[in-house]
Amino acid sequence: MKIGVFCSGGDAPGMNACVRSVVRTAADRGHEVVGIMRGYHGMIHEEFFVDSDGQRHLTPYRVTTWAAHGGAHLRSSRSEEFRTQTGQQAAADILRKHQIDAIIPIGGDGTFNGATALSKHWDGQIVGCPGTIDNDLMGTDYTIGFSTAVQTAVEAVDKIRDTASSHDRMFLVEVMGRHSGYIALYTAIAAGADVVAIPETDTNFTEIISHLNRLKEQGRMMAIMVIAEGDEKGGAELINSQLKQHACPFQTRTIVLGHLQRGGSPTPEDRRRATQMGNGAVKAILAGETGVMIGTRDDRCVSVPFEETYASHRPVSLDLLTVLNEIAS
Ligand code: F6P
Repeated sequence: MKIGVFCSGGDAPGMNACVRSVVRTAADRGHEVVGIMRGYHGMIHEEFFVDSDGQRHLTPYRVTTWAAHGGAHLRSSRSEEFRTQTGQQAAADILRKHQIDAIIPIGGDGTFNGATALSKHWDGQIVGCPGTIDNDLMGTDYTIGFSTAVQTAVEAVDKIRDTASSHDRMFLVEVMGRHSGYIALYTAIAAGADVVAIPETDTNFTEIISHLNRLKEQGRMMAIMVIAEGDEKGGAELINSQLKQHACPFQTRTIVLGHLQRGGSPTPEDRRRATQMGNGAVKAILAGETGVMIGTRDDRCVSVPFEETYASHRPVSLDLLTVLNEIAS
């Protein structure tokens, strides 16, 4: 069997570990893996991973040490062309031309939406792995990259706290999460922030200001607020101007962590999860499955139909928000 593997959408630390696991699991069972470069874009334009010796398929030896590497060696992209019927048909034609029997896309909701569209033009098997730092896919309790993104954000907040203390300031730290408060809330708790703003709840400026005033009365000279980029009241800049209009008791500064959160060597958790999911994806293909993402629940692999993964966004637990509010009061 010939299996194509690729990364799609925003890159996430751990994607290389997942590819490594796919390659090694397939090789262990006597199957071949080819790397498709730049996601659906590369599929349409016939871009395959080619080694320095001209070899096309990925060998177990070639992916040695990939578990520790950040970024995506197979590159990643968001393809406008693939959103069209013509693009999807072209991608299917390339898969047929190269006699690929099954593909493993590693990505988020857009990737699996694309996989469903592709399955209307191609009858090979498609089994995905969840790769997005946002951790907001339905059907899985974890997505590859989340742990590393939180680690990076927490390290950044720890550093910001130093300068915030030195200058008696409040910092508004914007983290990623287009539709989700996962990175923001986990970072806020781990880094000991005072306030968080996430898309899952209403951001109430009156409540935030009275909380900040209480801190000030208790003698606090600095504060940290973590903001998910997808908060309904906007990112750090917009929220900062709102706080000023509501007479914020602290002098404020903002910082947007942005794509920094997508880089770096994956944490052990991301490496382990990516390895487990890549292994699970190959086994699912060999068991005849298709049209599913391999997620995890309680540390076991589960198959989730693609349609379920992108039907909505998995919200972060509001129990954790209660924890933050009680700790930060
Ligand atoms: O989906 C993952 C993500 O990192 C989001 O949190 C963020 O909004 C988006 O990707 C940024 O995408 P791009 O790399 O296209 O700017």
